[in-house]
Amino acid sequence: MSIDKPVRRIAIVGTGVIGASWAALYLARGFDVVATDPGPKAEANLRKYINEAWSDLTAIGLSPGASRDRLIFASSLQGAVAGADLIQENGPERPDFKMKLFADIDDAAPVTSIIASSSSGITPSVMQSKAKHPERILVGHPFNPPHLIPLVEVVGGAKTSPEYLQRAMAFYASIGKKPILLKKEIPGHVANRLQVALFKEVLYLIEQDVLSVADADAAVSWGPGLRWGIMGPSLQFHLAGGAGGIKHFFEGVFAGLTPLLSALGNPQVTPELKEKVTEGVLAEAGDRSVEQLAKDENERLVGLLALRAQPVHA
Ligand SMILES: NC(=O)c1ccc[n+]([C@@H]2O[C@H](COP(=O)([O-])OP(=O)(O)OC[C@H]3O[C@@H](n4cnc5c(N)ncnc54)[C@H](O)[C@@H]3O)[C@@H](O)[C@H]2O)c1
Repeated sequence: MSIDKPVRRIAIVGTGVIGASWAALYLARGFDVVATDPGPKAEANLRKYINEAWSDLTAIGLSPGASRDRLIFASSLQGAVAGADLIQENGPERPDFKMKLFADIDDAAPVTSIIASSSSGITPSVMQSKAKHPERILVGHPFNPPHLIPLVEVVGGAKTSPEYLQRAMAFYASIGKKPILLKKEIPGHVANRLQVALFKEVLYLIEQDVLSVADADAAVSWGPGLRWGIMGPSLQFHLAGGAGGIKHFFEGVFAGLTPLLSALGNPQVTPELKEKVTEGVLAEAGDRSVEQLAKDENERLVGLLALRAQPVHA
């Protein structure tokens, strides 16, 4: 049986924070989307989210055929996944729950559909463990919000076939995402491990009273964070080596930084430290609600994405 079927219809299982954003993106890229979620007011909340995201998606550029009218809300999981070429799963982050949910999706979905989980931390081997056709089950982990942030981490489990991983990679790339393929499973995948590694040191610096929460945030977002939005940390260090590039960096600058590898902190995340960080964050946020902060951030992200899409020597 050919597994090269193009993706036309996408099922969204779970329409909370992440599922709603994926649904908005897939509609904007011109797909038929069938969503399902047993939560109260799930359909109304989903349609509200999509309506609010649509102006940013329009600013980025809608694909031919893009329409919010191509969203169907199904009352059952079986109804949602029955005719889907791709299932993007976004249910609650609990291993036992995901194992059962994936077994149910696997039973109801066409046998050649790609079944991708947005799970931030559960490995695909766990999620596919009770499925009859586990070869098409994988992780397609987005970064919040998936309708704006291009990164998708694609990871297979012990039983995932390389063909399905390549199909998932090709699909995400075809709609303008930036998929990366992890060569093996690891808890938390990669991008969250990187976030947590940096946050660990932020917590340590605050614990040690080196600086305030606001200054720690400024040290990232007004410093290296601006550059990381253009090139990743390894390529940045190529620039740090001057004309000699990364080779010179390892011989010179890095030698000075090496002692830090063993000096980085190991904070104790006590109730007091959490309280200190919480107070600092609330002071930084001021009278801006979480919703307002997200709206402001999304608006700037649309601008940054447009800037990055331009040729450098325009
Ligand atoms: N929040 C993030 O920043 C983020 C980022 C990337 C990935 N993720 C991952 O995405 C997934 C969803 O996270 P979220 O933040 O959107 O959670 P959420 O709580 O906002 O949404 C989960 C949704 O699943 C629904 N649900 C419950 N049982 C269901 C079932 N049987 N079938 C279908 N839907 C069901 C709930 O009603 C809820 O709407 C998790 O696996 C999480 O790890 C989250």
